Amino acid sequence: MVPKVVATLRGKGLDVIVESGAGLGALMPDELYEEAGATIGDAWSADVIVKVAAPNAQETARLRAGQKLIGFLAPRTNETGIAALADAGVEAYAVEAIPRISRAQVMDALSSQANVAGYKSVVLAASESTRYFPMLTTAAGTVKPATVLVLGVGVAGLQALATAKRLGARVTGYDVRPEVADQVRSVGAQWLDLGIDAAGEGGYARELTEDERAQQQQALEDAIKGFDVVITTALVPGRPAPCLVTAAAVEGMKPGSVIVDLAGETGGNCEITEPGQTVVKHGVTICSPLNLPATMPEHSSELYSKNLYALIELMLDESGALAPDFDDEVLAAACVTRKEETP
Ligand code: NAI
Repeated sequence: MVPKVVATLRGKGLDVIVESGAGLGALMPDELYEEAGATIGDAWSADVIVKVAAPNAQETARLRAGQKLIGFLAPRTNETGIAALADAGVEAYAVEAIPRISRAQVMDALSSQANVAGYKSVVLAASESTRYFPMLTTAAGTVKPATVLVLGVGVAGLQALATAKRLGARVTGYDVRPEVADQVRSVGAQWLDLGIDAAGEGGYARELTEDERAQQQQALEDAIKGFDVVITTALVPGRPAPCLVTAAAVEGMKPGSVIVDLAGETGGNCEITEPGQTVVKHGVTICSPLNLPATMPEHSSELYSKNLYALIELMLDESGALAPDFDDEVLAAACVTRKEETP
């Protein structure tokens, strides 16, 4: 929560308790929260607790039945943590489970944070690159623009394409969901068509079959050679990241080229990615930063706060009391544990 959003919550008649130092990572000291109307104290005693990551075992032990918890709870992969919240009777809301529908866009924290990551991936690639991104015409000659390929064009990929385009690169996007082609073209990028359609449920991609994967890797191996920068963002919910860039593809790239792999947290989209590390192989720099939004804490916090505020607002009834209506599809989907209602 940033202080500005704390003030908005206070305006809605809610009291806000902030854990001392909670905002320091985003350069927001306790005093700013106090000025916004918050009390610095035991945030774990509140009716609603907002966090970024899922609570650890000690934190879960501090929660009581009926308390509401909102955060990135990893509902598809964090089975033990979710079971512990259920056992404790906590009403937990996972922001990842918010449906990707127009009405819920304002509370879509996956999107707000993916946007930050997509932007920063390009800034990182430009900084690691040995070449200019834009075309430059100078007295000393003309420099060709860099060529950038973005693999996986969801929210992060689309922002990466737009950012690389703004920096003057020649950009190309690829995805297994064919409907993405128009979005890619809308930001001035070219669409790479490999003829694979793997649209899954809820707007997400499905995992490829063995044959499709081999076909994709071969086609990409040929395509990747021609690019100075490759940014990968491909994810399939609840599954390890698909391998799109093989070691052979890296070997085929020109020395000095850069790969930024945003899928490191689930294993990476490049065969030789080392999650969290920057490595140089065959003269190609491969970066796999983890949690890029944390490198831009002010804006990622501001956006996340607005997402949280919108979700909390949806839980308020007409009198301003916390009374989530589980007939609302957004709340019903986001809520991953709650006490059974007694008839
Ligand atoms: P994501 O983070 O789950 O995945 C990133 C991209 O990787 C996706 O575009 C996916 O199709 C692609 N991908 C997966 N496997 C691949 C493979 N083997 N090869 C190439 N690409 C592969 O996606 P994100 O950003 O979370 O978006 C998911 C969906 O939600 C999209 O359809 C997006 O348009 C939609 N969305 C809808 C919103 C709304 O209407 N409120 C808001 C935000 C997103």
